Amino acid sequence: MRLKDKIAIVTGGGSGFGEGIARRFAGEGARVVVADIDGEQARRVADALDGAIPCSVDVSKSDQVAAMVGVAVDGFGGLDILVNNAGVAQRNMPMLEVPEDVFDRLYAVNVKSLYLSALHAVPVLKARGGGVIINTASTAGVSPRPGLTWYNGTKGAVITLTRSMALELAPEGIRVCAINPVIGETGLTAEFMGGEDTPEIREKFVSTIPLGRMSRPLDIANAALFLASDEADLITGVCLEVDGGRCI
Ligand SMILES: NC(=O)c1ccc[n+]([C@@H]2O[C@H](COP(=O)([O-])OP(=O)(O)OC[C@H]3O[C@@H](n4cnc5c(N)ncnc54)[C@H](O)[C@@H]3O)[C@@H](O)[C@H]2O)c1
Repeated sequence: MRLKDKIAIVTGGGSGFGEGIARRFAGEGARVVVADIDGEQARRVADALDGAIPCSVDVSKSDQVAAMVGVAVDGFGGLDILVNNAGVAQRNMPMLEVPEDVFDRLYAVNVKSLYLSALHAVPVLKARGGGVIINTASTAGVSPRPGLTWYNGTKGAVITLTRSMALELAPEGIRVCAINPVIGETGLTAEFMGGEDTPEIREKFVSTIPLGRMSRPLDIANAALFLASDEADLITGVCLEVDGGRCI
C-alpha cells in the first residue's frame, strides 16, 4: 500500500487519465476525492472505489475550488496529495481560427485552475507539514504540434508553473511535479486529431512515438503514483514525460 492513509484530490477524476489516477491511488490505500465538472461521472468513479467521495466542481471557479478542498478536509480530515488533472482541449485547427471564448476557456481551466487550487489547498498542505501537488501538463508543452497552438501554450505554462511552485513551496515541505503524457486514449483524443478519430489519423500520431503506441490512463496513473508516494521524497520540479520517447 504505497499511499496508505494519504488523502488525495484528483480533478478531472470522472474520466480518462484522472479516472485512472483515482483508481490507482485508491488501490494503493489513498482516500480520494474524485472531483469533476461532470458530477455524474465523478459519482460513477467514486462509487466504484473504497471510501472515495465524489465532488462536482468547475476548477476555474474560486468558490467551487474552495468547496472541493473543504470536501477533503471535512470528509477525510485534511489533504496530502492534490492532482490538478482536469483540462480541456481545442479542436486541432489553424491558430487564427480559434474563437476568443475557446482561448479564454482553455486558459481558465488549464492554467488559472493551478492558481486557484494553490490559493485554497496550499494552506491546508502547510498545516499538515507538507504534501504533494501533481499537475497534468503534456508533451504539447515541450514539443508542440501544429494546429494546437493555444492549447500548447497552456501546457507550457503548466510546466513553468510546476517548476516555479516547486521552488517556492520547497521550504514548506510541499513537492510539486508534473506529468507530460503523449497523446492518449481519452475523451480528448478526437479533439486533438481535428474532430475525427480514425485509424489513419491515429497511425499518423503513433508514427511519431518511438515505442509505437498512444498513452493509456494506467501509464499516467503509474507515474502519478510514483511521484505522489514517499519513494519520490527527493523529487520536485520534475516534469516527467510519459511519452514512449516522443520528445527525444
Ligand atoms: N488525452 C491526451 O492525449 C492528453 C495528452 C496530454 C495531456 N492531456 C491532459 O490530460 C488531462 C486529462 O485529460 P484526458 O485526456 O483524461 O481527457 P478527458 O476528457 O477524458 O478527461 C478530462 C476530465 O476533466 C473534466 N473537466 C473538464 N473541464 C473541467 C473543469 N472546468 N472542472 C473540473 N473538471 C473538468 C472533464 O469532465 C473530464 O472528466 C488534461 O489536462 C489534458 O490536457 C491529455
